[in-house]
Amino acid sequence: MHKEWKTNEGLTVFLCGAGLSAQSGIPTFRGPQGYWTIGSKEYRPQELATFSAFQKMPEDIWAWYLYRIFEYRKKQPNDGHRLLIDIETTLGDSFCLVTQNVDGLHKRAGQNQNRLYEIHGNLEFARCSKECTDNRFPIPEQAVHHHKSPSKEHLSCPRCGEWLRPHVLWFDECYNEKWYRYDSVHQKLGSMKRLVTIGTSGQTNLPTQIVSFAKENKIFHVDINPEDTWISGQANVHLKTTADKGLKKLLKFINV
Ligand code: APR
Repeated sequence: MHKEWKTNEGLTVFLCGAGLSAQSGIPTFRGPQGYWTIGSKEYRPQELATFSAFQKMPEDIWAWYLYRIFEYRKKQPNDGHRLLIDIETTLGDSFCLVTQNVDGLHKRAGQNQNRLYEIHGNLEFARCSKECTDNRFPIPEQAVHHHKSPSKEHLSCPRCGEWLRPHVLWFDECYNEKWYRYDSVHQKLGSMKRLVTIGTSGQTNLPTQIVSFAKENKIFHVDINPEDTWISGQANVHLKTTADKGLKKLLKFINV
């Protein structure tokens, strides 16, 4: 790997998934305790994480997201989040972080927001479900406080009064530039010289495109994941370990 980072020239794209936050005590989506694995008696989680479910039962959907926000806020960023900041300090403008995580831990760790692309949104924010404005609003504290019984009183758009919705990409929605910076990420791929994937199983569309783009264009790819996945099968190097240990190892190569 030394020769890949002989100079830090050219963009290194870091693509993160839920595995990065696993060591903060946040379950991944598809692991044994995962949000998508456990579900509820009545619904598969994938059915709940949709705009159509939200339209039918906004209170129930909000209850699930507010519960997650409530839990996320009890968690702390881990060494993996902090190491990404160290790497950014070393790489400067050659660093780009594309994250699927909506838990807000990158920001709480102090990550520079200018080089961060939150392609699945951020659960610290809500937006108008009728799109009356392009503004995002911080989740109202009263709503988090009453997370077991969400009401429109605490979760209505300050502009038009309609329901606010969580600022996350749902399964029945598409990526776009306005909310998820889809075009900007694609633009970044044009100057990508290295790809580092961390803690993702690669089941969603844009991450799949990024990994496939790297493969097709012979871009050097390191995957950090304690498990084998289709992504590790594509990578030039698989660091088969946790995010923090893998990033620590990687930082040594970047600092040479
Ligand atoms: N360090 C690194 N990787 C880990 C760790 C760890 N400590 N623990 C688990 N992993 C790996 C798992 O082996 C798995 O491959 O993290 C991956 C997590 O995969 P998923 O649960 O599928 O999460 P993710 O890839 O982020 O999901 C992508 O799917 O439903 C959507 O919007 C949701 O953003 C999410 C997206």
